[in-house]
Amino acid sequence: MIPFVNLVGQRDAYRQELEKVEKEVLDSGCFIGGPQVKNLEKELSDYTGRSAITCGSGTDALTIALMTLDLRPGDEVIVPDFTFIAPAESVAFLGGIPKFADIDLKTLQIDPASVQGLVSEKTRGIIAVDLFGQCAPFEKLREIAQKHSLWIIEDAAQAFGATRVVAGQIQKACTFGDISITSFYPTKPLGCYGDGGALFVSDYQLEEKIRMIANHGSPGHYDHQILGMNSRLDALQAGILRVKLSHLDAELKIREENARKYDRFFLDVWNNTRGSDLQVTPQALDSRNFSTYAQYTLLAQNREAFIALLKQADVPFCIHYPETLQNQPCFRGLQQAPSPNAKKATQMAISLPVCAFTDVDQIISRLVRA
Ligand SMILES: Cc1ncc(COP(=O)(O)O)c(C=O)c1O
Repeated sequence: MIPFVNLVGQRDAYRQELEKVEKEVLDSGCFIGGPQVKNLEKELSDYTGRSAITCGSGTDALTIALMTLDLRPGDEVIVPDFTFIAPAESVAFLGGIPKFADIDLKTLQIDPASVQGLVSEKTRGIIAVDLFGQCAPFEKLREIAQKHSLWIIEDAAQAFGATRVVAGQIQKACTFGDISITSFYPTKPLGCYGDGGALFVSDYQLEEKIRMIANHGSPGHYDHQILGMNSRLDALQAGILRVKLSHLDAELKIREENARKYDRFFLDVWNNTRGSDLQVTPQALDSRNFSTYAQYTLLAQNREAFIALLKQADVPFCIHYPETLQNQPCFRGLQQAPSPNAKKATQMAISLPVCAFTDVDQIISRLVRA
């Protein structure tokens, strides 16, 4: 059975390094904070060019970011309607109102025109998700944000390591938001062996406030200036992430090669040899973007028919996401204008394995025979 994300293959590849750091941490008696966390934050900061503050998860990172930006009950925040729930959930959790923006059906990213249409007097900011590993259209989002004095939170949970060319310069994911965040959930492009996350800022005051909020609102010990929370990455996860970070760029190259193999296969072979109901369209890559390919996503003309063939070929798949956020039961009271493209994506999108330890040639040959 081919795994959707081959974490066992990855562990086998880095076993010696991982076991060394795991033993070091367990023998050190230092499990929370300490040198592993400090060194990881330094390395994340060197990688992105921004200060990095680790925390307990990507969801915590979003919540901490919103608390840092002083989100108040009743404030509106624009989020994509087609993504994981965490951005909308963290807004609603703090009493804010998520406003659901439609997406571009080619790139599957938040649509700036839809964002513009949702701006009201109550809007405080935008959470833009780098969906499936590809940076959101930040230039246009920033124009809207500047025009209406809004902040942007970049949700790069799926995109640590991605880049986008802006004004001729390569810019890394996690540097586009006033605050950017990522997740280290195990199946993410940079994942640990439990929960974990990080925030990225270039403003020292924001960094101090984030650190305080993540530490019960206290800048040091037992000095609680504001209400905060307990959100921290443990030393074991930090050690594991340091090993994986050192291999990340090499892995991202392989993910990219895997995605190109799929593109060539589906566009040049599959679509030319299968009937109209089995036609597929890969998520379009904006030419400015280098994607982490958190997953390889297609839009299938008839998803049920495509799934039947995947099952026949024993190829694993995931459906991200089966419903728009505004149609999730927890948001039904919000009654907002529908997002037709997001709705279509929930009916057509299907994702295939693409990680650096996935044998995409094997998957393709299974599909050829199906
Ligand atoms: C876009 C997005 N944002 C936020 C999160 C939340 O991250 P975590 O699971 O680490 O809380 C995820 C996780 O899947 C995600 O995909």
